[in-house]
Amino acid sequence: MSFNADLIRRQFPILECKVHGKPLVYFDSAATALKPMTVVDRINEHYLYEASNVHRGLHFLSDQATQYFEDSRARVAGFINASAVNEVVFTAGTTASVNFVSQAFGRALLKKNDEVLVSEIEHHSNFVPWQKVAQQTGSKFEVFEINKDGSFNLENFLNKLNSNTKIVSVSHVSNTLGTVFPVKEIIKHAKKIGAFVFVDGAQAVPHQSVDVKDLDCDFYAFSGHKLYGPTGIGVLYIKSNLQDKMEPYQMGGGMVDKVEQAITTYQDAPYKFEAGTPHIAGAVGLAAAIEFVNEIGIDSISEKEQELLVYATKIISEIPSVKQIGTAPGKGPILSFVIEGTHPSDVATLLDQEGIAVRAGHHCTQPLMKKYGIPGTVRASFSMYNTTDEMDYFGKTLKKIVGILKD
Ligand code: ALA
Repeated sequence: MSFNADLIRRQFPILECKVHGKPLVYFDSAATALKPMTVVDRINEHYLYEASNVHRGLHFLSDQATQYFEDSRARVAGFINASAVNEVVFTAGTTASVNFVSQAFGRALLKKNDEVLVSEIEHHSNFVPWQKVAQQTGSKFEVFEINKDGSFNLENFLNKLNSNTKIVSVSHVSNTLGTVFPVKEIIKHAKKIGAFVFVDGAQAVPHQSVDVKDLDCDFYAFSGHKLYGPTGIGVLYIKSNLQDKMEPYQMGGGMVDKVEQAITTYQDAPYKFEAGTPHIAGAVGLAAAIEFVNEIGIDSISEKEQELLVYATKIISEIPSVKQIGTAPGKGPILSFVIEGTHPSDVATLLDQEGIAVRAGHHCTQPLMKKYGIPGTVRASFSMYNTTDEMDYFGKTLKKIVGILKD
């Protein structure tokens, strides 16, 4: 499938739905992307005809499920250009991945007076776990500031980076502002002083091609559900050379080699990091989602989404009293804004009455909201299935809402 907007939209039957009697306009893909039929069909197929546990059975269905599960891992590895398939660990999502690395890696590494460095743009899930592990280890939790327009500030980053910095953890793309961080450059600087780098790629992977080998990151995480896949499945890339140094995060079945009362030995990575029955349907569903994206082409998706962002930005910039928050050049398809004298949740509620789904609030980035001195924003986030007609309707509706709320 090449980029054919009509064909693509037909893959998402939910777009035919009416909300409060109005056609659904889904501008909340940063929260979760809609699911194409191919993904849902693949998950159905798994549960209806293939359901079986992996890595355990000596029967046909179990072997087959294992094969599909491992094929999915290989597909993920190819998608992010990992050097080896075993660099891909399945988790429950990005949040689970950050918690995993902060506890299984950070907690063992960090000593008193060491530093962990994050940015003030981070989602709570890439902020609080590091803050916690710093408290647990007596190390320092440092936060570097971004520019007022939401863009990365190299000077602020370098001012905070020093020989005590052991871990740097940054978003690839901000969930609130859409800012794309120059992660390759960040990683290069961090490596110079020997720090390890974790990249939260939850908002990047659905919108741009990601090459972990080229980035040279140590860890890279993303969630299946933001990439048109199922909820409850995520990916944690761990560079090969770190895997042996890392203790497992969770203990249980499937991750052990030998268990005795005195001692337990573990399987090799990635299995030692995947205790218990994994989310098998999630993994095969995620592989189907990647196949869907690959067929269209991530670069074509990216191009289309950029066109939509430019179109939508123009529309809202023409509405008086709408102020965009986050205008970094080259940002992802996320538009955050406030309307003078109104509360973001009132705007979102009124948009919803007209069939338009957006997110409003602090978007799990309270430190960022504090920087701007606002309680939250309205966030419209776009995906390849959105259209300029939807943007026109959004603009018209927003104008009406401004009129209502300001009367
Ligand atoms: N992290 C998701 C968002 O930004 C849920 O909406």
